[in-house]
Amino acid sequence: MKVALVGCGAIGAVLAQAMAEHRVEAELVSVFDLSRERAERLSALFEKKPEVAAGMEEVLSSEAELVIEAASVAAARELLLPALSSGKDVLLLSVGAIADVEFLKRVEETARRNRRQVHIPSGAVGALDALKSAREAELTEVKLVSTKRPEALEGAPYLAERGISLHGLKERKVLFSGTAREAIAGFPANANVAIAVSLAGLGVENTRVEIVAEPGARRNVHEILARGSFGELYFRVENLPSPENPRTSYLAALSAISTLRRLGAPLQVGT
Ligand SMILES: NC(=O)c1ccc[n+]([C@@H]2O[C@H](COP(=O)([O-])OP(=O)(O)OC[C@H]3O[C@@H](n4cnc5c(N)ncnc54)[C@H](O)[C@@H]3O)[C@@H](O)[C@H]2O)c1
Repeated sequence: MKVALVGCGAIGAVLAQAMAEHRVEAELVSVFDLSRERAERLSALFEKKPEVAAGMEEVLSSEAELVIEAASVAAARELLLPALSSGKDVLLLSVGAIADVEFLKRVEETARRNRRQVHIPSGAVGALDALKSAREAELTEVKLVSTKRPEALEGAPYLAERGISLHGLKERKVLFSGTAREAIAGFPANANVAIAVSLAGLGVENTRVEIVAEPGARRNVHEILARGSFGELYFRVENLPSPENPRTSYLAALSAISTLRRLGAPLQVGT
């Protein structure tokens, strides 16, 4: 499979390394980053070097069958519809891009019309397979609790609007409790996990989210609690940061590799 990569940061670098070492069956033909230097650094990892694109248009006109988006919500919004319209599948990391229900509908319609697909890796969380199974019957409750050190939450619009400072916080504090839609508006940097859980389960209006600050926390912890006719689910992951970007969980980069591997695999494991 021929692929293009948009975004050569923490996740892009881990993915490119896996392709360069032939750990996944994918040929990288085009790389793009706003920082040309980063794109060139990744291209240099390969024996058969992928073209360093000068802009998104070059990625869209490349021979890639799949575009991996590992850049930003803005890049994903710019890329999704034209990529699908030009016959390419998309592997989407910046899931926050489809938080908006109207935009999500357009993405789905465009994908359907062009017989293309958008692949969304589990990212920094898990249990999405069980939520998807559970919602085939009655899924009554899904709650996500994300716990991070205060520094990782600093600057969130929700805190700024209320004049809340986390400076000098001594003990664990629940900062926010509301729907996934409200969480995304107030804590956009936390949007990816909340959106992925919402898409797998009950949607942004019916998924509850709690955001907790814990001074000194070394790991980003995500917990999912769900109930329904299947029974009950409790999932917890303690994420270590990715070696290149302390804001990104290493598991998110690994989940992108795993998704890429699944696309070409004869055996599909998990729902
Ligand atoms: N799904 C998940 O669970 C999950 C987890 C972590 C990160 N993410 C998301 O994945 C994306 C990449 O994460 P990362 O840690 O690799 O980020 P990063 O900041 O390390 O790297 C992003 C790279 O994309 C480039 N970039 C930004 N906007 C661009 C644009 N419009 N066009 C081209 N290049 C652009 C930047 O220059 C940078 O090199 C982010 O949007 C992040 O929020 C998702």
